[in-house]
Amino acid sequence: MKVIVTASYDETCRVIAEMIAGLVNEKPDCKLGLATGGTPVPIYKKLIEMNKAGKVDFSKVRTVNLDEYCGIPGTHDQSYRYFMNTNLFDHINIDKANTFVANGMGDFEANARELEEKVREGGVADLQLLGIGNNGHIAFNEASDHLISVAHIEHLTESTIDANARFFEKREDVPTMAITMGMGDIMAAKKVVLAATGLAKVPAIKGLIMDDVITTQNPSTMLKMHSDAVIVIDKELAGAVGYQA
Ligand code: GLP
Repeated sequence: MKVIVTASYDETCRVIAEMIAGLVNEKPDCKLGLATGGTPVPIYKKLIEMNKAGKVDFSKVRTVNLDEYCGIPGTHDQSYRYFMNTNLFDHINIDKANTFVANGMGDFEANARELEEKVREGGVADLQLLGIGNNGHIAFNEASDHLISVAHIEHLTESTIDANARFFEKREDVPTMAITMGMGDIMAAKKVVLAATGLAKVPAIKGLIMDDVITTQNPSTMLKMHSDAVIVIDKELAGAVGYQA
């Protein structure tokens, strides 16, 4: 696992956007695993700018997203399909037919199986972008006494519902279940890049970069077993967890 400490969160986003653009330029038909949440938004903004400036071409890129809430349609403004369209896909020259976000409506189990197929279709992701939950969750793989390797339905913890309530009008509106890639799906990506910022992430990042323990109680710690995992944090977060480069 490689840890990169940047001067600021903006710099974190620039470093990661350049990593993604570099991969796309090298392999125009690459497969990207994408993430939602507040953290990747400025990364996507930078990719949009680069695309508009002619520095990166997404016309052949394929994408698969980590997860989707159960019970809200892709047209709902808090669905992850809507998030991806409005924060990235609508603004770059990607073919939306080459983008996949699990369907959050209908038969959830069948939708999870479809996600699992998309994870493997045409090969695994060349790069999987990740955020991290306050409790160390990755995608929606919640801290638990066990983790599931393949795409599945997850019941969200109170901590995750609390953290995501800021995006909804009322806490009761936050879906309590989600379809998510499993930890095995995420670990299968050729490269994983995790971005984190903010003091709410201190316990999770401490567990990830400050000790040698791998525990299902902090799902991000599984990334210690990945041969090409890059963790990008700013100096404020690095300082708060006591990490020295
Ligand atoms: C959600 C997503 C995760 C994301 C996490 C943290 O739970 N399913 O993929 O990493 O939120 O989000 P944020 O970046 O807003 O802190």
